[in-house]
Amino acid sequence: MFNKKTIKDIPVSGKTVLVRTDYNVPLNGSTITDDLRIQASIPTIEYLLKNGAAKIILISHLGRPNGKSDPALSLAPVADHLRTLLPGTAVDFVPEITGPEVSSAVDRLPQGGILLLENLRFSPDEEANSEDFARNIVASTHADVFVQDGFAVVHRAHASTDAITKLLPSVAGLLVEDEATNLLKVLNDPIHPVLVIIGGAKVKDKHPLIDNFLSIADDIAVGGKIAADGYDSPSPKVFVADDFVEDSTGAKLDIGPKSTAKIFDMINNAKTVIWNGLLGKAEEPAYAESSHAVAEALGRSSATVIIGGGDTAGFVENLKAKDPTLRYSLISTGGGASLEFLSGESLPGIESLSNK
Ligand code: 3PG
Repeated sequence: MFNKKTIKDIPVSGKTVLVRTDYNVPLNGSTITDDLRIQASIPTIEYLLKNGAAKIILISHLGRPNGKSDPALSLAPVADHLRTLLPGTAVDFVPEITGPEVSSAVDRLPQGGILLLENLRFSPDEEANSEDFARNIVASTHADVFVQDGFAVVHRAHASTDAITKLLPSVAGLLVEDEATNLLKVLNDPIHPVLVIIGGAKVKDKHPLIDNFLSIADDIAVGGKIAADGYDSPSPKVFVADDFVEDSTGAKLDIGPKSTAKIFDMINNAKTVIWNGLLGKAEEPAYAESSHAVAEALGRSSATVIIGGGDTAGFVENLKAKDPTLRYSLISTGGGASLEFLSGESLPGIESLSNK
């Protein structure tokens, strides 16, 4: 059972509510190419508005700007998108995270207004989990309460997921509650054989997770950049893709047909499948074939299928929009977060919230 307090357990009427979201969405220039994570934040925002919250301050990171300002990773396009999703609600954006400009923007907000602050990771203090930085955010926004609703980032111990919870009453939002509740069902009672398919580009993050899953999964398939970079299988349970589609320079940009067929066999044998990370550079159609084929096979499988991750979830959602007969048991907004959750790790962004 999810044992943390949520926004339903506290009074929000008249409060200034600081909400950590995960708006780490894919961008093409300033165009958001997949808004799943923004859509997923709306129920909490609407709940707060319906229950009389005075002001809502949204905070998030976008990408990995390494503690420096990067206009290409500004959250301004997200504020524009929020306006289209919340017609009739005032949504403002301020290109700062702390300081007098933020305070004035908060003061200017009408009752029931929303303010999105700039990308938290433009400051090195965010990833350093700095309590001073968290204190400045609280002081600049005059927040009364903190809501963690960025499920995709709860595996990070950063200022906006950890330090800030020491300064304000801190509860979960509806997305965090919903994702954690659904994943707990799978974690507590997985139907074997369990297959974990891991791909994606965040190679360093994934190695320890593969090790964690050795005790839970019956089979593990590894593709994406991890396989392309060369990864020695740590156990007979772990199949690492070994044929690839290459570009003219010899770069391995997708797993090949032999490895894809092997993953199909593993899917046919599985009763639970957890998939995180695309198997090739799927934003280029020439290298999306294996991910496409696996997504279709999983969408037609009778196993319990959990899809995790920004890119993987977006890819599957796009496919589902074209072919509504495809069915998945759960599409999580979290990539690393859902994998860490399912591998039994404790997540600092959830641990730090108040218990029921
Ligand atoms: C994600 O996309 O998995 C989350 O937004 C976390 O991003 P990070 O891996 O850069 O911390």
